[in-house]
Amino acid sequence: MWFPDYRPRRLRRTENLRRMIRETRLSPDMFIYPLFVRKGKGIRNPIPSMPGVFHLSPDTAVQEAEELQRLQIPAVILFGLPEVKDEKGSEAHAPDAAVQSTIRALKDRFPQLVVITDVCLCEYTSHGHCGILDGQEVHNDATLEVLARIALSHAEAGADVVAPSDMMDGRVGAIRQALDENGFDRVAIMAYSAKYCSSFYGPFRDAADSAPQFGDRRAYQMDPANALEALREVNLDIEEGADMVMVKPALAYLDIIRRVKEEYDYPVAAYNVSGEYSMIKAAAIHGWLDEERVMMETLTAIHRAGADCIITYFAKDAARILGAA
Ligand code: PBG
Repeated sequence: MWFPDYRPRRLRRTENLRRMIRETRLSPDMFIYPLFVRKGKGIRNPIPSMPGVFHLSPDTAVQEAEELQRLQIPAVILFGLPEVKDEKGSEAHAPDAAVQSTIRALKDRFPQLVVITDVCLCEYTSHGHCGILDGQEVHNDATLEVLARIALSHAEAGADVVAPSDMMDGRVGAIRQALDENGFDRVAIMAYSAKYCSSFYGPFRDAADSAPQFGDRRAYQMDPANALEALREVNLDIEEGADMVMVKPALAYLDIIRRVKEEYDYPVAAYNVSGEYSMIKAAAIHGWLDEERVMMETLTAIHRAGADCIITYFAKDAARILGAA
């Protein structure tokens, strides 16, 4: 059938008609809210490049979790800021460091909250790279051991899911093995499988103080020009034992989300990264964009592309709107 017999506008006429045939629905169920934590008490320091996002301490992270419960957001992902950085990022696996303490505090108060942890070294190393250096390069296999130790320390503190974001080869297998050998077969792995070397991480590197002190991450994170390679990365991570895979960033990589979703029958997460958040915030502050609408359109697009879960700094704002609707 063709115009004038078929008129798509008939089903767009009223909100109830539109609601009835809507293909994609957002829900707080799919949101994962990132928290940046450091040691201390009562900390709630704004991160200048990410309006509305704060550095927290374990106690204020628990307050945040209270709000997340009210908003029906099931999960957080934790990033830690160490007290001391060194060449090997030792504080990343210290049993009483910020992330480990926060996991315990959160689980103590909200056992049902899904606690995911970012497993990486860049926040913890003096050089800011995501692994152990060998000269000017990140040594893959030496880094695997440390990543496994970090993941294990998170599991011991009570994490439900560990999420390696370093992009070393073989890290999912190394982490799975370490977890299983130590009685943590119940802890899941959400692999940052297709993590691109993206300039959209700019504001996060302020938030996590994790900018590399020399060079860049192109020798381990993926080239934004590649799509088939993303499928190989996902395949490797699944073979090594990943329970969920991730595409990161989200917006400039919606095609990758779609392809991963179509090729693999695994849950797919997408990371709506700091730059994607801050661009919208900045434009909204200037009055150039309607923040709420752009936020909801963006999250809807990420879900429509195929993401089952979305890691997003907008989680609370979006959940408030969904709850009110
Ligand atoms: C750590 C890590 C990064 C992000 C998540 N985990 C930064 C990076 O790889 O440089 C970025 C998150 C964001 O931009 O919101 N490796």
